[in-house]
Order: sequence, then C-alpha cells, then structure tokens
Amino acid sequence: MSNLTKDQLWRLVQEAEKIIQNSYAPYSNIHVASAILSESGRVYLGVNVENSSYGLTICAERSAVSAMVTHGDRKPLAVAVVTDLADPIPPCGACRQVLAEFNPDAVLILYSTKSRKYTIMKLTDIFPQPFKL
Ligand code: THU
Repeated sequence: MSNLTKDQLWRLVQEAEKIIQNSYAPYSNIHVASAILSESGRVYLGVNVENSSYGLTICAERSAVSAMVTHGDRKPLAVAVVTDLADPIPPCGACRQVLAEFNPDAVLILYSTKSRKYTIMKLTDIFPQPFKL
C-alpha cells in the first residue's frame, strides 16, 4: 500500500496494542487505540476517552491526531485502529473528516486483538469527499 512497508504498518498495530489497556471505556466497554505514523517518522498514540455525558466521548483516532498536532507534526501517513471487538473497526465519520484534514491519502490498518483479523485500506476508499474550505 503506497510506499509504506508491511513492517511499518505492523509496528503501528503493535504500538497501539501496547496502550489499548489505557482506553477509558466504562460505558461501551469497547476499547480502541490508535497509532499514527507521521511524515517525520514519529509515532503518536491515542485511546478512546468516554464520559458520563456520552456525547463528550473522544475517539482513539482523534486523540492520536491531537497528540500529533500538539507535538508539531501535521501529516499522518498511516493510522492503525486497534479494537478488542471481534472484527476490526473503521474510523467513525467524525474521525474520517479529522484525518482527511491532515492527509486524505493516509493509509489505514484496522486490527482486532480478539480475532487477529486485519484489513488495510486508504482513507480515500472510505471517505472520498471530505468537506474542505
Ligand atoms: N470509537 C473510537 O474510539 N473510534 C472510532 O472510530 C469509533 C468509535 C470509540 C468511541 C466509544 O468510546 C466506543 O468506541 C464506542 O462507540
């Protein structure tokens, strides 16, 4: 997939898997972790952070984007989304839009820790028309 190696994508999955236990999901009990490989080569991590006011929940992918931007990076080349559900999950609509802001051509690797199933795709495959100003 593009010029990223399978090794780079697997490393991202492993980094996300290491921190999935930090996911704060007492309401849905769905744990998600994300790892972003940025253009600089650095990796940024995030988990979902739920709230008793459910709508305030932050997804793992947007947590990782915040970490990336906070540290001065702007371009996610690859994004791992790791969950403990039986099947891999794609980023929600809001996360697709937020990722597309920084790189609509990002590569996604979606992985389930439970089944070890994974799927690789491009963000453009699942979000071809981001809103842009
Ligand atoms: N969730 C994510 O972290 N990323 C997604 O793209 C989809 C959903 C989280 C939010 C919430 O904590 C839980 O999964 C169930 O919706």
